[in-house]
Amino acid sequence: MPIHSTHHSWVLETAHTAYSFGLNSQGLLAHCYWGPVLPRAEDYPPAPDLPGWPFNSQGQVVPEEFPAPAGLKYIEPCLKITYADGTRDTVLDFESDQRIGEDELVIHLHDRSYPLRVRLHYRLHPQLDIIERRVEIENAGDQPATLERVFSAQWHLPRFGAYRLSHLSGRWLDEFHLQRHPLKSGLTVLESRRLTTSHHASPWFAVDRGSADEEQGEVWFGALAWSGNWKISAEVTDFYSTRVSIGLNDWDFAWKLNPGEVFTTPSSHAGYTQNGFGDASRRLHDLIRDQILPHGHTPHKILYNSWEATTFNVDVPSQARLAELAAGMGIELFVMDDGWFHGRHSDNAGLGDWWPDEEKFPDGLTPLIEQVNRLGMDFGLWVEPEMVNPDSDLYRAHPDWVIHFPTRERTESRNQLILNLGRPDVQDYLIETLGRLLAQNNIAFIKWDMNRNVSEPGWPDAPGDAREIWVRYVRGVYRVWGELRRRHPQVVWQSCSGGGGRVDLGVLALADQAWTSDNTEATARLNIQAGFSQVFPANVMEAWVTDAGRGRISLDFRFHVAMCGSLGVGGDLLAWDADERESAARWIALYKDIRETIQFGDQYRLGNPQEEPFTAVQYVSKDRSEAVLFVFRTHIPEPIFLPPVRLRGLDPLRLYKVEGLSGARTGLAWMNTGVQVMLSDFESSVMRIRAV
Ligand code: DGJ
Repeated sequence: MPIHSTHHSWVLETAHTAYSFGLNSQGLLAHCYWGPVLPRAEDYPPAPDLPGWPFNSQGQVVPEEFPAPAGLKYIEPCLKITYADGTRDTVLDFESDQRIGEDELVIHLHDRSYPLRVRLHYRLHPQLDIIERRVEIENAGDQPATLERVFSAQWHLPRFGAYRLSHLSGRWLDEFHLQRHPLKSGLTVLESRRLTTSHHASPWFAVDRGSADEEQGEVWFGALAWSGNWKISAEVTDFYSTRVSIGLNDWDFAWKLNPGEVFTTPSSHAGYTQNGFGDASRRLHDLIRDQILPHGHTPHKILYNSWEATTFNVDVPSQARLAELAAGMGIELFVMDDGWFHGRHSDNAGLGDWWPDEEKFPDGLTPLIEQVNRLGMDFGLWVEPEMVNPDSDLYRAHPDWVIHFPTRERTESRNQLILNLGRPDVQDYLIETLGRLLAQNNIAFIKWDMNRNVSEPGWPDAPGDAREIWVRYVRGVYRVWGELRRRHPQVVWQSCSGGGGRVDLGVLALADQAWTSDNTEATARLNIQAGFSQVFPANVMEAWVTDAGRGRISLDFRFHVAMCGSLGVGGDLLAWDADERESAARWIALYKDIRETIQFGDQYRLGNPQEEPFTAVQYVSKDRSEAVLFVFRTHIPEPIFLPPVRLRGLDPLRLYKVEGLSGARTGLAWMNTGVQVMLSDFESSVMRIRAV
């Protein structure tokens, strides 16, 4: 039984882990345990009944599942509300529990003195060892209340531990850098205030005891399914408790909760493993493929994107020439990027006017699409729905549709402003306009871009509190995207935000894949991809071979790096010679053979390219009959002895052959003695491994 409860205590068991909480003698809903599953129900500890301490109530000392500020309690709360009469604390009492099917539990709480209900939802993903939490806040009274913070969860680590936090940081062209540092007394805050998930940080955390590595050690990890402002605050209290709160960012946030209304938070997913950071990532990869992505097990086609070849100078002849070359190399999907729509000749104009530019495409997109289809490829298109250039018909008609403060100058970034997708009329306009584009053209793929961060976050006629914009905007994006998906189920979607500025478990419920970074230089990409893989699986990670580093980094190396994800090509094919196109065709053919293992297999990071110049990545099919090994060397001063690459994830007793090496050996042998791969600087290798 995955969920069992005895008198006011609950144990949530997945295949290998358990999570428990209960009511203590003072009625606090307290966290009890999160670790390996224990043999007997009685083995789980009871709700902690720790004494208070002078200057501190029990609520400061006891790890509460969902703390709100009340009494002598000062830790990070999950909830902050101001009631209509000005009362600003919240005293939560337990009301009841409710089971929904085998895998869901709801704990009902309410404020002791006000008609406010709080429902804590727990959902198990038993085979993935993941627990999902979200919260509903209901105003059951007849006066409005103001929500000022509502997190999705507070995740507690075992008390008395000393912990280390792993997270991701970065910036445009340089996303997903893995950071690892000890958690010290007090708060560590990670967040986005940029309206989207951001290039700078990711709503993901992993916590270990300081000695876990890729293969061993306890790791507690989690993520938030949200594509707007988010916050993680990791707190080490003076009472030996470490907890990680995760949810919507409360910075500049307020939500007027009217009588009868319910506010629902995004979900936070979290898990525990004893098998290190590699296993934590694989748990998330499986979660994303099995539970989050709309079609997590459909292989992605190899695409060509014309952006780096033609930038804004697109028309039928230029695209058709590229399409012919792409088709000749075995590409399956041709994507025309920016520059195709009304008035778009540079980044100065056009955003918002989503119909083909009359000069470039006098007969619409159909002639080009038909040509692409005749070449045996699907056709894809770039859009940036949330944006508008002041020089556009849309802005001239609706200058009030953008996010702005009426008294401030509207800060432009890349010459564009942000449409307020919190507004239903803006959402409807986009659903209609983009819907028409998809209905009138045979479009199989959309790259949804978002190329700036917010400024002047005002909403003059906001329906509630103007600070609701942070949440209403993201919900608006979800509505537009969700509606377009529903109406046009044939379309595959990509989330792009100037590269990896919006990749998270929220957008991946709508987007089939993500553009990892605008930086396509292969050695930089190795680092970015390693960080990306902490959270996201290879099928989500779109990676192109481009001309960045051409002349310095071989085409083989560039292909190998891009083949570690969902392969694409983005170079200027007109400048590639016959040899390059022939090599490309060979790599593309190989990728078609191995993509299921890469996109859906278990990924093993063998070394961290952010720190080491000789690393490898291995993908193992779920049935362990096939594996693919990529090995990379960047710069290492000679003389050097390269270590053997010890394979991972194979069936220990099965015999495997490694391509290019003679003789079959057991998985155990390959995993312990490894494969010797001799590479010079900036060389790489790909090897198939097959069970015999
Ligand atoms: C930013 C994207 O990340 C690029 O790939 C390209 O689509 C440009 N926008 C087009 O403006």
